[in-house]
Amino acid sequence: MTDFPEAVDRRGTNSVKWAVQDDELPMTIADMDFKTSPAIIQAMQAKLNLGAFGYEDIPDEYFNAVADWYEHQHGCRPKTDWMIFTTGVVPAISSAVRRLTSLGDNVLVQAPVYNIFYNSIVNSGRHVLSSDLVYDAENHTYSIDWDDLEQKLANPLTNLMILCNPHNPLGIIWSRDQLIRLAKLCRQYHVTIFSDEIHGDFTFNETGYVPMFSLPDELIQNVEVAVSPSKTFNVAALHAATVIVPNANLRAQVSRGLNSEELAEPNLLAIPATIAAYEKGQEWLQQVLAYIQENRELVTNFVRDQLADSVTVVPGEATYLMWLDVSRLTDDSAKLAAFIREKTGLILSAGSIYGGDGNHFLRINVACSTKLVLSGMDRFARGIEEWQQK
Ligand SMILES: Cc1ncc(COP(=O)(O)O)c(C=O)c1O
Repeated sequence: MTDFPEAVDRRGTNSVKWAVQDDELPMTIADMDFKTSPAIIQAMQAKLNLGAFGYEDIPDEYFNAVADWYEHQHGCRPKTDWMIFTTGVVPAISSAVRRLTSLGDNVLVQAPVYNIFYNSIVNSGRHVLSSDLVYDAENHTYSIDWDDLEQKLANPLTNLMILCNPHNPLGIIWSRDQLIRLAKLCRQYHVTIFSDEIHGDFTFNETGYVPMFSLPDELIQNVEVAVSPSKTFNVAALHAATVIVPNANLRAQVSRGLNSEELAEPNLLAIPATIAAYEKGQEWLQQVLAYIQENRELVTNFVRDQLADSVTVVPGEATYLMWLDVSRLTDDSAKLAAFIREKTGLILSAGSIYGGDGNHFLRINVACSTKLVLSGMDRFARGIEEWQQK
């Protein structure tokens, strides 16, 4: 087993995930325990050594680095003049909700989905309209109910859809055909698509994911894509992301929103760190992917071998998050998660926070050392056993 990447002890470091009791093990919030790429650390150190931190522009080099990365990692080069820097994917989503829809409109999502989408919608006085993904309990797969989706997109109050591509928490990689079908429907019903592609670099299939901006021109005129090094390189606290908007009118609207809400100003490390990540981080990412793949297999095998009668791993192809079907144990995953935490110290995310059928599922984050994954599995098995005995 590889000993790279290096996991660091994040207790007492202001880490949100690690603000837990000494004996607790958090496998929750979507960041990694790994030290980021040395190239990124060096670039940030060089900036700090300069010692002058006045107002900054975003250089062409930044946008070129984003474009180069998508070209060599994902086989499609977005135009640099489609891009706008922003301080995070969630701020960009919230701004899109405010700018591209009106009070009382519907924003469509596909539950179960990243819970903060709901905050971005509801906090701006819009309605969440979900076209729930449909679970096949025999094959443990999810699919889109296209009739339901079309009916909800056709609703005149639905003006924006937030797509999670690839999907958190299910780990689904949407195919090009699915994205084309979706884009055609959204075009037909005048619905803008916000495609959150923050997990796009964490794919474990042969071909990777399909960036929405790689679809034919006529299908991306109502599309805003958000990408970021934050998950890929474990730099969430940098608050750096890029939105990619091919249509000039839509881009102007998005840009006005981000600028007027002061969401387009980089902090002093965002630019050098992102450039270093995208220009020099490829090899590091390969190592991380291989490591996480092993952790994913470890969890899959453990659950299959030790917990086959009570838990099933829903096979996913993307992200370092795994979706565990606990429907044979409970229809209240929050209660089960609280029980496991109390009895074993293992903290998992209750699927219920993601909406849809999430009350039958738990989410586990495996972006940590294999040692911790093993400890997590040991605690998980104990927690489940006690739950069954109670
Ligand atoms: C799908 C998705 N989008 C956005 C974010 C957060 O993005 P940011 O930190 O850039 O606001 C996360 C973090 O978990 C996520 O899973």
